Amino acid sequence: MPHTYTRQKVTTFFSALALAILTLYLSFHFQNQLTFWLKSQNEWLITHAESIVKLLHLILWALVAYLLIRAISSLIFRLGFRWRRGFEAPTLVRNIFSIVAFTGLFLLIFSSIFPEVNLGALFTTSAIFGVILGLALQDTLGNFFAGISLQADRPFQVGDVITVGAKQNTGVVEEISWRAVKIRTFQNHVVLVSNSVAAREELEVCPRDNLNARLVFFNTLYTDSPVKTIHVVREAVREAQNVSQKITPIVRIRNLSDSGVDYEVKYWLEDYAKYNDTDALVRERIWYAFRRAGLTFAYPTRTLFVERPLRSGISEGKEGAIIERLSAVDIFSPLSHEETTMLAQAASSHVFAPAETVIRAGDPGSSMFVVHGGKVSVQIMDNGRSRTVATLEEGAFFGEMALFTGEPRTANVVAEEETEVLEIGHDAMKRIFDANPDLVESLSHIIAERRRGLAARAEDSADMQAESAGLLSSIKRFFGMK
Ligand code: CMP
Repeated sequence: MPHTYTRQKVTTFFSALALAILTLYLSFHFQNQLTFWLKSQNEWLITHAESIVKLLHLILWALVAYLLIRAISSLIFRLGFRWRRGFEAPTLVRNIFSIVAFTGLFLLIFSSIFPEVNLGALFTTSAIFGVILGLALQDTLGNFFAGISLQADRPFQVGDVITVGAKQNTGVVEEISWRAVKIRTFQNHVVLVSNSVAAREELEVCPRDNLNARLVFFNTLYTDSPVKTIHVVREAVREAQNVSQKITPIVRIRNLSDSGVDYEVKYWLEDYAKYNDTDALVRERIWYAFRRAGLTFAYPTRTLFVERPLRSGISEGKEGAIIERLSAVDIFSPLSHEETTMLAQAASSHVFAPAETVIRAGDPGSSMFVVHGGKVSVQIMDNGRSRTVATLEEGAFFGEMALFTGEPRTANVVAEEETEVLEIGHDAMKRIFDANPDLVESLSHIIAERRRGLAARAEDSADMQAESAGLLSSIKRFFGMK
């Protein structure tokens, strides 16, 4: 269809040009006959016949000039621009070129056909007329010059998405003409914003060849883990159509609100003009990802929880899993089922985000921890630098040194990923020790071994046997055991 249209235009152009040239040729060829014929018509024509023929020549020349300028303008600003830059030059630029070129050529033709006419004087007399015309066309001229300044400044181009005007119209720029910027809104309406308004008012431009970003909001229940939510949403969004692969989407918490945790996802678009569809697709992907991952949107409602005063962070359903976890910890393996259950009931659960510190070196400590989910690293300061001496995974325990010796914490323990730990306090341990005095011995061995690991140099560590024996008596003393 566009090809047929172009061919039609080219055919019409060449036919018009051929006709104009032919008429021009004939008017020159039969100039004398035409003048003679005109003179023979009436008295007035006797004196004016030559001027009429010249006027005819002027019109025909001007027509040829106009057609040639149109052809040149199309070649440069349509084909040339599309070839070099990938898009056509704005209509305004084409029109300015045509007017300047045509005026220049017309004056040239005029002065060669009517050399006796003084163009300077003609312009002077038309100056007053120009002022009157200028006043009448004040708005039009204002738009025209604003259009020129928009072209010079180039704040946006055809194809960019802009938001402009008092009504904050948003749409894709389709054309920048003499009078106005034509934008097509996302409701497929055409809005014309006059050039003077576009040049004067605040303008938001999302260039076509720029990676523009969007924000989409969602929320979750307070019980859903932020680390899991962020991971799930990031993976779901990055694969959506029209989401740029060049930058990974960012998911972050915006607010801790009444009904849940508010998040935003920031993503970058390949084609910004389709942001409505892409926002919708992103929301859709989040919904499905939530379904698969067992995450829940927070409704804007108040949920009333009637909760029995349980120990912090542990629901009844979870207790079974905790008993299972504690019975798998090697130091607790000698304990009976009742003792492990008692320990599980005395334990409290805490969740730490990645890189959060669970224990800080130097702090006093009266509890120990078991890693229930995730992992932690044990870090000490070595010559002013942090050094990891051990990584403890699910089922491992830490914090026993300060608990059993009463000394300050010997190292920093930091969550490597989202980590759940079970905290067991002094009183619960004392009850266990009273029932299982042998446990103290195995613990003193572990503590002695860990102390060796903490020593920066091997020679700093004391003899294992002696240290273990010393520890054993100090633990017994600390817990008031015989
Ligand atoms: P505590 O001193 O109470 O606090 C820091 C904890 O890091 C410490 O108890 C141990 O549980 C743990 N820890 C210290 N050194 C080591 C090590 N070499 N290997 C494993 N865990 C350690």
